[in-house]
Amino acid sequence: MRDLLSAAAGHAAAYLESLPERPVVASRDAPAARAALRDALPDVPTDDRRVLDELVEDAEPGITAMGSPRFFGFVIGGTLPVALAADWMASTWDQNAGLASPTPAAAAIEEVAGAWVIDLLGLPRDASFAFVTGCQMAHATALAAARNRVLADAGWEVERDGLTGAPPVRVIATQERHVTVDRALRLLGLGTACVEPVAADERGAMLPEELERRLAAAGGPAIVCAQAGDVNTGAVDPLDEVCDAAGRAGAWVHVDGAFGLWAAASPRRRGLLRGCERADSWATDAHKWLNVPYDCGIAIIADREAHRRAMAVQASYLQQGEPVREPMDWNPEFSRRARAVPVYAALRSLGRSGVAELVDRLCACAERFAERLAAQPGLEVLAQGLNQVLVRPDGPDDGADRLVARIQRDGTCWTSATTWRGRRCMRISVCSWRTTLADVDRSVDAIVRALDERAVTSGSRRTPRSAAGPAPPGSSDGAGSSP
Ligand SMILES: Cc1ncc(COP(=O)(O)O)c(C=O)c1O
Repeated sequence: MRDLLSAAAGHAAAYLESLPERPVVASRDAPAARAALRDALPDVPTDDRRVLDELVEDAEPGITAMGSPRFFGFVIGGTLPVALAADWMASTWDQNAGLASPTPAAAAIEEVAGAWVIDLLGLPRDASFAFVTGCQMAHATALAAARNRVLADAGWEVERDGLTGAPPVRVIATQERHVTVDRALRLLGLGTACVEPVAADERGAMLPEELERRLAAAGGPAIVCAQAGDVNTGAVDPLDEVCDAAGRAGAWVHVDGAFGLWAAASPRRRGLLRGCERADSWATDAHKWLNVPYDCGIAIIADREAHRRAMAVQASYLQQGEPVREPMDWNPEFSRRARAVPVYAALRSLGRSGVAELVDRLCACAERFAERLAAQPGLEVLAQGLNQVLVRPDGPDDGADRLVARIQRDGTCWTSATTWRGRRCMRISVCSWRTTLADVDRSVDAIVRALDERAVTSGSRRTPRSAAGPAPPGSSDGAGSSP
């Protein structure tokens, strides 16, 4: 066993050491990766070492280097070495982390890690929390508590009576909400027809006067869904004003802060989230900006009682009732891994200053991207907020997809495409602890090469680029500031 684990550690180290120079793109596409996998179910056992070595051999060409310092797709964090090492221990201990009494240390680590996250994000100290698979399930957890609370206030007990015959719940949500909010509403039996969208400004931040108008239009149980960090532009909703308006209407406020909530951990950027602590619930991820391995999201809820009532379970065969926090009482899962372990390790290793440095550095990298790309003829930077950058190449609408395909093929870096306000764009999300300004510069050069390739293949000529070299990093603090 020791040899096998050493071999796994060797494969892991070799892969991680290759990340700085490895092409980011996978060298096999999905059909090729499928074809390369040994897929006959063996009739007899296979030697463990052979299984491991062949797994690595078969899989690695089909692995995109998402942990690369130049992976900027979607919103995907890397893995801090200490978080990976702690995650190995969580897998090694293989605790079913649902109950405190059979796994006291896992429960204690979760309790401490949850309190640390709440503290760092500046949220109410007595809020409750749950470590779940990702922001999607954090929404489902928090919105279950929200739904049950607003209906309980209207005299309806969802835990006992379900939703059949319940008063309608209004969900008043930014038009730019992430799709996972809608899926949480579907999972919770509220459906998406109950959503009343609220218009947002050109950066994607909710317009508070529009929210006020919506709230005033009708009464009844209501949940407001705002966001801190738009997936395309990084924009943060004006949370203070959102909470003011919702407070006047007696509505619950839920904040999607999958990555953006982490801005609160930086003294320089905390002000962007002014009023955030006044909300009723928050959903965030540790597998994004905190750089712990997949998967780890966190639901945080100010109304502990609503949270607990929505999630708690009891069974005679469980050892419950200790005067301690039982993780199972706050989570939608029953059995689950001890996913707070790498969060604890990451936060201990970084400390407050390390998290702030990580937040500020990745924002500075996004700003550098925006400044350098804005200086490129043929590219328009539409938005830059926090660690996100939204860029559009001049020309036909499919230009962004073609540019992204060329960038991905080149392998220096990896960006992805999106639709923003009806137009196809390229998005850049800087989310890895490994990324430095040098990686940004190298990636900008690759993006420019891909642009030039377009010019060559289409026969058009780009106007020579301005002589302006790389701009100094970190020159603006603002979310959603359009350069
Ligand atoms: C703003 C926002 N909300 C929610 C999510 C979903 O997060 P997860 O994939 O962890 O469920 C994302 C993912 O990028 C996001 O950016």
